[in-house]
Amino acid sequence: MELTDKVCIVTGAGSGIGKATAKLFYDNGAKVAVADVNGDAANSAAAELGSNAIGIAVDVSSAKDVEAMVALVVEKWGRIDVLINNAGFGMTGNVVSIAEEDWDRIMAVNVKGIFLCSKHVVPVMAAQGGGSIVNTTSYTAASAIADRTAYVASKGAISSLTRAMALDHAKQGIRVNAVAPGTIDSPYFERIFSQSPDPQKLREEFNARAAMNRMGRPEEVAEAMMFLASDRSRFATGSIVTVDGGSSIGNHLVR
Ligand SMILES: NC(=O)c1ccc[n+]([C@@H]2O[C@H](COP(=O)([O-])OP(=O)(O)OC[C@H]3O[C@@H](n4cnc5c(N)ncnc54)[C@H](O)[C@@H]3O)[C@@H](O)[C@H]2O)c1
Repeated sequence: MELTDKVCIVTGAGSGIGKATAKLFYDNGAKVAVADVNGDAANSAAAELGSNAIGIAVDVSSAKDVEAMVALVVEKWGRIDVLINNAGFGMTGNVVSIAEEDWDRIMAVNVKGIFLCSKHVVPVMAAQGGGSIVNTTSYTAASAIADRTAYVASKGAISSLTRAMALDHAKQGIRVNAVAPGTIDSPYFERIFSQSPDPQKLREEFNARAAMNRMGRPEEVAEAMMFLASDRSRFATGSIVTVDGGSSIGNHLVR
């Protein structure tokens, strides 16, 4: 199997894209650390996978939590081959309406979280001769969407960070790439739908963002994670793989 005995950390793996990625990796032979700020979700997702998975409660914006996570994985499995920096969230608002503390939190989780996890994992990968890091950015990093200013800015930072890290660590055998999902039908959106007065209408609006006129599934993003994590992409670094059903290729809604 493609990831046999590869030790993988997936952050934000208690739900959605991270959970689907952890499952695909596990089914391909990996040992998986299922990391999430929601410790119960992490533990139950790990239990669903089996004995070669562990759940870890970690807030990726906390240096103390991240250090403890990396130490635990190295103590248990002795190495780290793959880091999936996927934990993140979005919120509405423009520069006027968004609260300063919300801006700070989104940057702390989405951007600083990747910095911290990479800061502690890269030395482990370098010492063992290499590894693969995949960051979750978004199609909105390249094209923007309205009323998501902090989120779009955080994802833009992730895309730049991906390229900067790729340059810095190529000679250590560490590849750094990113996946840019489109609108994906994860529990994040289920929460948004459930709060809407007309969930069906809202779902149709989200479907219409994509030329393919549907939302993606977490499993479809996990396939791109798999490609970038594994040796199949061995000559790719600093790449951003977009999986968005055609949301970013042009305005298909113009008639
Ligand atoms: N769903 C989409 O349409 C979409 C599109 C583009 C990018 N993304 C990105 O994909 C990633 C996963 O999103 P999802 O849709 O699967 O959402 P989700 O809400 O289903 O899952 C995100 C997980 O991250 C965890 N998390 C949040 N803050 C954390 C923290 N500080 N430390 C550790 N874990 C934390 C949550 O507890 C949750 O389990 C995010 O980075 C998101 O921005 C999602």
